[in-house]
Amino acid sequence: MTQYQHVTDDMSVYRDGTIKLHGPEGYEGMRKAGQLAAQILDEMTERVQPGVTTGELDDIVRQMTLDGGAVPATLGYRGYTHSCCISINHVVCHGIPSDKRLKEGDIVNIDVTPLLDGWHGDTSRMFFAGEPSLKAKKLVEVTYECLMIGIAQVRPGARLGDIGAAIQQHAERQRYGVVRDFCGHGLGRLFHDAPEVVHAARAGSGPELKAGMFMTIEPMINLGRPHVKLLNDGWTAVTRDKSLSAQFEHSIGITEDGAEIFTSSPKGLHKPPY
Ligand code: MF3
Ligand code: CO
Ligand code: CO
Repeated sequence: MTQYQHVTDDMSVYRDGTIKLHGPEGYEGMRKAGQLAAQILDEMTERVQPGVTTGELDDIVRQMTLDGGAVPATLGYRGYTHSCCISINHVVCHGIPSDKRLKEGDIVNIDVTPLLDGWHGDTSRMFFAGEPSLKAKKLVEVTYECLMIGIAQVRPGARLGDIGAAIQQHAERQRYGVVRDFCGHGLGRLFHDAPEVVHAARAGSGPELKAGMFMTIEPMINLGRPHVKLLNDGWTAVTRDKSLSAQFEHSIGITEDGAEIFTSSPKGLHKPPY
């Protein structure tokens, strides 16, 4: 039995496995956190270039987050010591910023989560360093479509599995692999909360979607097989077959008739080329 809980300010922090249903203050808080997150990614469109290091990009994310009155939720999260994740080419997610330089043709995911006034705005986009291969660009395009097709399933009365079913169908049509080892998640006052939003599922399965739920949808789609492995640093997830991987993420809230995207780009910089 899925349990839901209408949250008041102090209750919503509990990691008790219930799906939280938020009120107007939650939507206001998430809009602000989400818009700051989106502005940070908008800035990245100009910063991602061959030659820049991922550490330099991380510094900009941290500074913009702090300037916006927020803190990077990843900083100190389970021992993670950076302000964002930057995942290049065959890195699926949780790439650690470093002195590594981007090179011509890289496809790059930057994932940011400012924590603003107690609310988490979690979003990622793909970026191109120079001009990637045709097959890389196609993967990125289809991955963006997967995110938006997933969001299009969201409305009260639909099931959580409808999201993953639509994403899986769209990706597998192109013979891409849908990563199973990482999921979207409920969020709000907590960074990662119930439910787990899987990106491959059976339509009609899982809990019912209700107005007031906040969640991320963040499909990771591989050019090859879905399988991933974790590097020795304990964070970096890469494709087992070394194939390219792409991801986009939005934080959304369920409304009476669909979804509100909290992390939409204010400048319309939704996907590359920017
Ligand atoms: N932002 C990631 C997500 O989408 C989580 C990153 S946690 C970190 O859920 F510690 F790896 F940064
Ligand atoms: Co997330
Ligand atoms: Co994220």
